[in-house]
Amino acid sequence: MKWIQKKEITREGNQQNRVFYAEIENDEKTPCAYKMFSSQEAKDREAMLLKTLRRHALRVPQVLEVDDKGILREWIEGLTIEEILIEMEEAQAGQYDASANESLIYRLINWFYDFHTIASCMEHQNLVMYDVHPSNFVLRRGQIYGLDFEDCRPGVVETDFGRFMIFLMRDGLFEWRLAFVKQMMKSMEGEFRYNLELARQAMEDMSKKEEWKSIELIFN
Ligand SMILES: Nc1ncnc2c1ncn2[C@@H]1O[C@H](COP(=O)(O)OP(=O)(O)O)[C@@H](O)[C@H]1O
Ligand SMILES: [Mg+2]
Repeated sequence: MKWIQKKEITREGNQQNRVFYAEIENDEKTPCAYKMFSSQEAKDREAMLLKTLRRHALRVPQVLEVDDKGILREWIEGLTIEEILIEMEEAQAGQYDASANESLIYRLINWFYDFHTIASCMEHQNLVMYDVHPSNFVLRRGQIYGLDFEDCRPGVVETDFGRFMIFLMRDGLFEWRLAFVKQMMKSMEGEFRYNLELARQAMEDMSKKEEWKSIELIFN
């Protein structure tokens, strides 16, 4: 299969991997993403996980080709969760709107639920994604896709939720992010029966000392 790199889209501050928007040289010029890895192990791990997770019907990009430096994968057209949160908090600058955020929260929790269930069946132990930065998820036609799996490791599933929420609190409008995180926690505990104490533990492990104040605010 012939394809060409069109444009580098590496995230600022990432010294490890490089990501490119690319196109297959067919009539449709099928869009795709080429991710170059800094190590063979990271590349092999991500390729294996993407293929297996997709085979189990988790929403992740399809692997199109693996070469010695990287992985060519399906392009997921849409906004990242990082971008969506910025849009939502701007739209709700005057007034936090819990009902407008509910469906995104359920989609996120459901994606994590599916990921943890499938990953634990695959590896016969609980696995966490670990690098759960909001830029690692894209919303396409109302469905969440996960992109970044090289840091996957054994762990308790609540770790991913705790770390995800700390990433949310580090950017954007603090009051709005705090309200969003509290709303997410309520659903996690209410409908999904997650153990919030374990999520809190992961938050504290990940945080710098000055962030502990925010964790207090989430839980009171
Ligand atoms: N298959 C894809 N479809 C759409 N966007 C992608 C795809 N792969 C990567 N991206 C974009 O590139 C960024 C970096 O990709 P990612 O896989 O998270 O690598 P990194 O290890 O650099 O974080 C993502 O945040 C996303 O915006
Ligand atoms: Mg990433």
